[in-house]
Amino acid sequence: MEIIILSSTEEVGETSADVIADVLERSDRPVLGLATGSSPVAAYRALAARTGSGDLDLSDVDAFALDEYVGLPADHEQSYATFIRENVVAPLGLDPARVHVPDGQADDLEAACTDYERAMGDAGGVDLQILGIGANGHIGFNEPTSSLESRTRIKTLAPQTRQDNARFFDVIDDVPRLCVTQGLGTISEARTLMMIAQGEHKAQAVAAAVEGPLSAMCPGSLLQSHRRAIVILDEAAASSLQLADYYRYVYANKPDWQRPRRRAPRG
Ligand code: GLP
Repeated sequence: MEIIILSSTEEVGETSADVIADVLERSDRPVLGLATGSSPVAAYRALAARTGSGDLDLSDVDAFALDEYVGLPADHEQSYATFIRENVVAPLGLDPARVHVPDGQADDLEAACTDYERAMGDAGGVDLQILGIGANGHIGFNEPTSSLESRTRIKTLAPQTRQDNARFFDVIDDVPRLCVTQGLGTISEARTLMMIAQGEHKAQAVAAAVEGPLSAMCPGSLLQSHRRAIVILDEAAASSLQLADYYRYVYANKPDWQRPRRRAPRG
């Protein structure tokens, strides 16, 4: 696991974008795993600046989102389909036909989950999965005690998650109770996992995920068993890590050949 601690939101965005662009440009058939929430927004903004200036072209990228609420129409302002459309597809210049979000409105949700897994496989699997982390350690909507081998399925949101997300809705009763999420087994098949976390309120979850036991009690700890996992943090989110100084030392001494390629901007 590589832990990168940075001092500003802008650096978190630029560094995440460097890794994402490098992985996708090296892939013959690039597939990006998308996350919603505030954590990846700086990365999306940095990528949008590069596609907007013509330095990066993501129009041939297939993309799969992690999760979706059950029961919200796809055009609801709080659906993850809307988030992905507005924050990712248009700004990054993705082809809407190549971007997939789990269907939280299907009559047969289980069949929709199976179809989603199949579509990911048909696309060749995910090259890089972006992840945020919930305050309770969830990734996607895999709440604590989710099976480490779970696949895309229907889950019940933890009360804390509904509370955390209530700020986006008029009243907490409007927050759906069910969701569809890629499973931990699904997520772990991505060839690179990249978790982004910012803010003091994520510090405990980050410490549990990075330095706690590998445990279904903290689904984010799944990264410990992955062959290529990168955790990008701001200082506040890193503030409960015991080995923070060691991670800074490792990153400062990282050989150039291990760093993402940076191409000179055009123009
Ligand atoms: C949400 C999403 C997760 C996200 C997490 C943190 O409920 N389902 O995919 O990573 O909670 O969100 P944020 O980045 O806004 O803190």
